[in-house]
Amino acid sequence: MCGIVGYVGEKQALEVVVAGLRRLEYRGYDSAGVAVISDGRLEIRKKAGKLANLETLLGQDPLPQSTTGIGHTRWATHGGPTDHNAHPHVSADGRVAVIHNGIIENFAELREELQSRGVELASETDTEVVAHLLAEAMPDSDLAQAMQAVCHRLEGAFTLVAMDPHDPTTVVGARRSSPLVVGLGEGENFLASDVAAFVEHTRDALELGQDQIVVLRADSVQVLDFDGAPVEAKPFSVDWDASAAEKGGYELFMLKEIAEQPKAVADSLRGRLDAQQRIRLDETQIDDGVLRQISKVVVIACGTAAHAGMVAKYAIEHWTKLPVDVELASEFRYRDPIVGPDSLVIAISQSGETMDTLMALRHAKDQGARTLAICNTVGSTIPRESDAVLYTYAGPEIAVASTKAFLTQIIAAYLVGLYLAQARGAMFEDEIRAIMQDLSDMPQKVDLVLDTVEPVRALAQEYAEAGSVLFLGRHVGYPVALEGALKLKELAYMHAEGFPAGELKHGPIALIEDGVPVIVIVPSPRGRSVLHGKIVSNIQEIRARGARVIAVAEEGDEAITPFADHIIRVPETPTLLQPLVSTVPLQVFACELATVKGHDVDQPRNLAKSVTVE
Ligand code: AGP
Repeated sequence: MCGIVGYVGEKQALEVVVAGLRRLEYRGYDSAGVAVISDGRLEIRKKAGKLANLETLLGQDPLPQSTTGIGHTRWATHGGPTDHNAHPHVSADGRVAVIHNGIIENFAELREELQSRGVELASETDTEVVAHLLAEAMPDSDLAQAMQAVCHRLEGAFTLVAMDPHDPTTVVGARRSSPLVVGLGEGENFLASDVAAFVEHTRDALELGQDQIVVLRADSVQVLDFDGAPVEAKPFSVDWDASAAEKGGYELFMLKEIAEQPKAVADSLRGRLDAQQRIRLDETQIDDGVLRQISKVVVIACGTAAHAGMVAKYAIEHWTKLPVDVELASEFRYRDPIVGPDSLVIAISQSGETMDTLMALRHAKDQGARTLAICNTVGSTIPRESDAVLYTYAGPEIAVASTKAFLTQIIAAYLVGLYLAQARGAMFEDEIRAIMQDLSDMPQKVDLVLDTVEPVRALAQEYAEAGSVLFLGRHVGYPVALEGALKLKELAYMHAEGFPAGELKHGPIALIEDGVPVIVIVPSPRGRSVLHGKIVSNIQEIRARGARVIAVAEEGDEAITPFADHIIRVPETPTLLQPLVSTVPLQVFACELATVKGHDVDQPRNLAKSVTVE
């Protein structure tokens, strides 16, 4: 949600900043803007719409050369996606340029206060108040001191990055609850919302903590708290290179990321068994003794990550006999969730920055719960604030619609479940090893799905004009149905809904009319065959009312053949692992349908990859 880049060094700042924005555009694409300092003045260009619009403007009205610059790509919150609401925002005296990610919750009162002092505001944004407040604080202090003073006045979540032409070789950043990382180069340094912006220049980075300010110069990086006291920042190094964040010959990031799933699953499983063939979770720092005392598990997550949590609920309850609640993070802290020292709260987040999940995590910690993050982004806030972390190794996920993150989140949550079962003695070791063996077969099975997925594209084209698509599943197939519907909504902008197949008759079956396509995730006939039988009955109920049934069914499940208009085959898989194969055709279906409709698949309308506001 908003991408931020800052640069100080020897290169042309504009080139570095625009290249960084290109890599961060998935965070928001309502507008883009840049600022550089030249001849003691701020020079700004900004434009509504995608980064390409800004690049056209820069072609028509070039910026002067400069080695210090900042840039922003926006996901609009306060004020529409217009040129004048685009960042950077500048103080009335032209002294400060600022870019921002997050929401300043007390902006209305700050705005009134500024207006009462005669300041005229040029935009509807919450960000602009910061530019004026910084300028007001500047006569008596430098930009870093002004930033400290202003941050004390702000409520909400924010990353701010600012420049002052009186100090043309410095960029100052600040963060509270929104992402900001430092890239450490040779004779140059970077600030960015995530490492993708600077990974082509350096893989050495610094994590910034809560309520910290960073003063960036070409040859130094100083980290301070909001009172100006120096702080030691934690270094880390990025374990992927710039090519991982490029399309690599694919037309779309989403297609590349779908294709990367076998590797992502394999990488997330690698090295998880020790010499005794027991599960090892290196990054988990919760003592086994504590895990033995846990009496419940609560998963907090949003969107796709919540669907991964719902899948994991079935497995963790089955393996550990512990109750598992899955909570949408945005709802969690606004009721009275019953969590405490005997609860293990698992926060699942690809980005590690989703504000709803972060706030739910903090709430759980306040109640004394033990917390564990499942995350794909090293150095991000959610793992940093959790007692323990299990990283997924999906590599950077750039397409806004999540694909490989989902599969690896399921893998990671399963590893946590098996680890819990092992620590608590809930399963025999040979049972755990057998499941690990099944898991190790999954990269090959996902590969097989990808090899045979072509007919799904034809099917998507056939249903491109459907008014709505329903998805049905039972057991672990239910969250897969929800995920299939979410993909279709966000990419194809179609009405799509996922239901537990047994629930349909309690109301939603009224939606079925002649020709409505219904995608049914069919449970394995070899697992709980009663589930298979029940879903066959559910299919009959909807076919009797005119539905066209597309079944996602296991190879060899011939019993389903008479009841489906189309069958998408997936390899035979143990019941609990079926989501790892049955989700993939649904991703391809949504991607193809969106392509047929001419939508921007990687950057769907109204969305942003990392949702850093509540
Ligand atoms: C799914 O395709 C979406 N991109 C969205 O639902 C996403 O999964 C959700 O916003 C959570 O993001 P996170 O995993 O980064 O926390």
